[in-house]
Amino acid sequence: MNADNEVIISVKDLKKYYDDGEVKALDGVTTDIRKGEVVVVIGPSGSGKSTFLRSLNLLERPTGGTITFDGEDIMSPATDINKLRQKMGMVFQHFNLFPHLTVLRNMTIAPMKLHGLSKDEAEKKAMALLERVGLDDRAKAYPSQLSGGQKQRIAIVRALAMDPEVMLFDEPTSALDPEMVGEVLDVMKKLADAGMTMVCVTHEMGFAREVGTRVIFMDCGTIIEENTPEEIFGNPQNERLKSFLKKVL
Ligand SMILES: Nc1ncnc2c1ncn2[C@@H]1O[C@H](COP(=O)(O)OP(=O)(O)O)[C@@H](O)[C@H]1O
Ligand SMILES: [Mg+2]
Repeated sequence: MNADNEVIISVKDLKKYYDDGEVKALDGVTTDIRKGEVVVVIGPSGSGKSTFLRSLNLLERPTGGTITFDGEDIMSPATDINKLRQKMGMVFQHFNLFPHLTVLRNMTIAPMKLHGLSKDEAEKKAMALLERVGLDDRAKAYPSQLSGGQKQRIAIVRALAMDPEVMLFDEPTSALDPEMVGEVLDVMKKLADAGMTMVCVTHEMGFAREVGTRVIFMDCGTIIEENTPEEIFGNPQNERLKSFLKKVL
């Protein structure tokens, strides 16, 4: 579907070992992420999904292999890691909003500090983003005054305020009460529809099927199967994928 689009992130033979190689969290992962793709990563707990995602912006230092972002080797000592991270918005399971700052301040602090926006510019941008997710009326609230779903929607637009090229999501709805999952997935779907390049670790198979352009199934630190959602869910090949799908569908 996006096969002709330009590659943003290229991962080759990525390895991450812990405990002197006893734990192989990633054991040779190779894949390309192309512009506009919504790559959904699925797999059992402990299969290396988070390690894979966290390696992409060097929250984990890989043991081996290469990652290039926009053609640049991100493991090279010459790479400015902070600049790199600004190009990749990341949303985790647990909303990492600053508890002592209002929603608006949470959203303006990085664009002002790192992108040199004036307070006015940053606030204008933040308000427009909040409006996009229906939370402009909560700009002056503190995180403790928001529901989990609201906090996660704020975490997403806070990342967007930095104009990232790619958004990385690590189980963004796993910590939410069930009735709040939909509102967060809706925001992610809108983002995908707007053309954002996304890599999402999630157990929401409906989202994977409906919004994903490609699904990667991981187990034991490797990619076991990757394909369109239609093929992964309708015509799975590997036995491990088949048994995983039986458990989660
Ligand atoms: N800091 C760490 N030290 C040792 N082992 C780790 C560490 N982080 C992750 N692991 C191990 O690496 C494997 C992959 O973990 P993870 O990427 O978190 O999997 P997933 O996100 O798919 O549940 C697991 O066996 C996990 O226990
Ligand atoms: Mg994980």
